[in-house]
Amino acid sequence: MARDILFSGIQPSGQLNIGHYFGAVKNWLRMQEDFDCLFSLVNLHAITVRQAPAELKKRSLDFVAAYMACGIDPEKSVIFAQSDVPEHSELMWLLSCHTYMGELERMTQYKDKIAKHTDNINLGLFSYPVLMAADILLYQTKAVPVGADQKQHLELARDLANRMNNAYGQLFTVPEPYIPSTEAGGRIMSLLEPEKKMSKSDENAGNYIALLDDPKTILKKVKRAVTDTDTIIRYDRDNKPGVSNLLTLLSGATGKAISELESEYDGKGYGHLKTDTGEAIVALLAPIQAEFHRLRDNEAELMQVMKQGACKARERASHTLKQVKKAMGLM
Ligand code: TRP
Repeated sequence: MARDILFSGIQPSGQLNIGHYFGAVKNWLRMQEDFDCLFSLVNLHAITVRQAPAELKKRSLDFVAAYMACGIDPEKSVIFAQSDVPEHSELMWLLSCHTYMGELERMTQYKDKIAKHTDNINLGLFSYPVLMAADILLYQTKAVPVGADQKQHLELARDLANRMNNAYGQLFTVPEPYIPSTEAGGRIMSLLEPEKKMSKSDENAGNYIALLDDPKTILKKVKRAVTDTDTIIRYDRDNKPGVSNLLTLLSGATGKAISELESEYDGKGYGHLKTDTGEAIVALLAPIQAEFHRLRDNEAELMQVMKQGACKARERASHTLKQVKKAMGLM
């Protein structure tokens, strides 16, 4: 039986961290079993802000190796770089001619970005959501796992799919947001500011644990994590965000339920909790880091994997694109 198609775009920016691992990557591993998955490294989206070419390429390969080390399997899913499949850019143009300026002007992420990058307000920042719609629609995608910040973009992809289907006949599957069922408390917060999410682009490296941090660094960062002034180890996101975050991390790394940990740590101090949490994270990451280095040290092989992924993606993308061009009267 054909499985539903799921598409996800990965931005090769910032530092992959453990929040991302628990919040997204772990879900992808599950999705990989349930869906026909395409994971695209969206390097064309990345260049809407200035990138140093050598650094962009290095980071892209780092990301692919990291995701594979976490368990994204090129035998099960299609993994490819967006720039290796020219159909994305081509469909984008066709969709651009059906996208209204007003629709893009309303995008909140665009408004935020032009406020931040005042020295480089380029056309790509504006048309970014149209490229994203092309990514999704090329593959007849049914499900798109998106966070709140991408909801508005996915809505545009849905509108464009409907608009094109109405104008030219059935061309695209109308995609839907996919919200994976996470266990309660899967959200990992910043170590030093536990009221905000652990982010891969945080300027202060003390706020996150990078996937590739060495054991000493991990233990040190967890030790410095903010807790609170009483000494009770209890899960309470509102009143004890730091301690709750440590419990979430420890639970994620060991597989033990938070309630189980609460009784296990009853009467023990924060120092104890921090040491155990740090060590559990070190143990969780050790095999992932080893696999990352194995993959990353063989760049030719990694490039070969990407090439094969692009081949599979192109086959599917070119089929959709051909239909669209034909329907639009393009010879
Ligand atoms: N814009 C997305 C982000 O920043 C990345 C992305 C690009 C994407 N194309 C996509 C996500 C297609 C889902 C589907 O997170």
